[in-house]
Amino acid sequence: MKVNGTHYRTIWLSADDPTTVEIIDQRQLPHRFVVVPLRSVEDSFTAIKDMLVRGAGLIGATAGYGMYLTALQADDHSILDEMARAGAYLKSARPTARNLGWAIDRVLAAVAGHDAPEAIRETSLATAVAIADEDAEFCRLIGEHGKALIQEIASSKPADPVNILTHCNAGWLAFVDYGSATAPIYAARDAGIDLHVWVDETRPWNQGSRLTCWELGQEGVNHTLITDNAGGHLMQHGLVDLVLVGSDRTTRTGDVANKIGTYLKALSARDNNIPFYVALPSSTFDWQLAHGTDIEIEIRSGDEITTIAGLAKDGTIESVKLAPDGVEAANYGFDVTPSRLVNGLITERGIVAAEEAAIVELFTDKITDTRSLHVTR
Ligand code: MRU
Repeated sequence: MKVNGTHYRTIWLSADDPTTVEIIDQRQLPHRFVVVPLRSVEDSFTAIKDMLVRGAGLIGATAGYGMYLTALQADDHSILDEMARAGAYLKSARPTARNLGWAIDRVLAAVAGHDAPEAIRETSLATAVAIADEDAEFCRLIGEHGKALIQEIASSKPADPVNILTHCNAGWLAFVDYGSATAPIYAARDAGIDLHVWVDETRPWNQGSRLTCWELGQEGVNHTLITDNAGGHLMQHGLVDLVLVGSDRTTRTGDVANKIGTYLKALSARDNNIPFYVALPSSTFDWQLAHGTDIEIEIRSGDEITTIAGLAKDGTIESVKLAPDGVEAANYGFDVTPSRLVNGLITERGIVAAEEAAIVELFTDKITDTRSLHVTR
């Protein structure tokens, strides 16, 4: 995706120093574009936990590179043990996005067959790069598959733009490139389809107003920022043709964990007969889970609700209070939309029904551990 006309990924190995990984500090967007170096597993942990990077795909890619940085700095004699410890540490940074554990396990599995420290270091890097490249390519493919949906709607209303509502940021900034929910939007735009995006602001962290609006603006996609509560009203008045969101973890039965508030959009969409689609790469599926209620929901600091940061007139980023001192605030980060409210899942292999049989059939080769499959409660 482009930033001021220049193509960027959201994470990359430094061009001058192969022992340094670089990321964009998303806490500072849209006000400042700041690139931050990661030089250790601790840096990677902090980047994930404090949300310098966020979004399922990018969290996974950052963890992959964090494992590489661990291998680089580890003692030759204890390298595999140190990597195992680093994996457990990184996994504890945030609980909900499946891509985090998936990426760490992928690096650990790749190095498991090696003894020589140099081979372990090389394999760690190759795997981290593969995770990032694959994330970008899978999002590109999601874009191609999702474009067909938008095309179909466009052909049913040739005189008007297709209105898409999205929640949070499942865009380029949440992945390595393209994004999941935004990839079909970019692909449709490239195909000349007239479209417009309603962007939920996504309180409390404002991924929508701060990140999705900035990203769509950089790419020249028509969009309008709305409050989180406006979606239902817009849907009742025929102003939304499609709801398109991402996912942080999706069960093999099609229940979708995504940013808090997604479930309410799905309910409104169903009540108004509007298609509700979820875009995700296969790295976001949790093959072991059959019930969305078993997904761990991150609970973050109440300070994110009681305060807000923004650009002050003097150009500094300032935090101000929104609520009375000492108020009790509960900050649930995600909710689960049951599969029955999901019209389909847009994956790198195509659009699949949010149903266990269809999902398992499409991804049989990815499901290596089938012990808990077909367990019902
Ligand atoms: O808390 P975040 O910003 O890491 O949450 C993740 C998200 O951005 C959303 O839930 C998104 O819609 C799915 S992640 C691709």
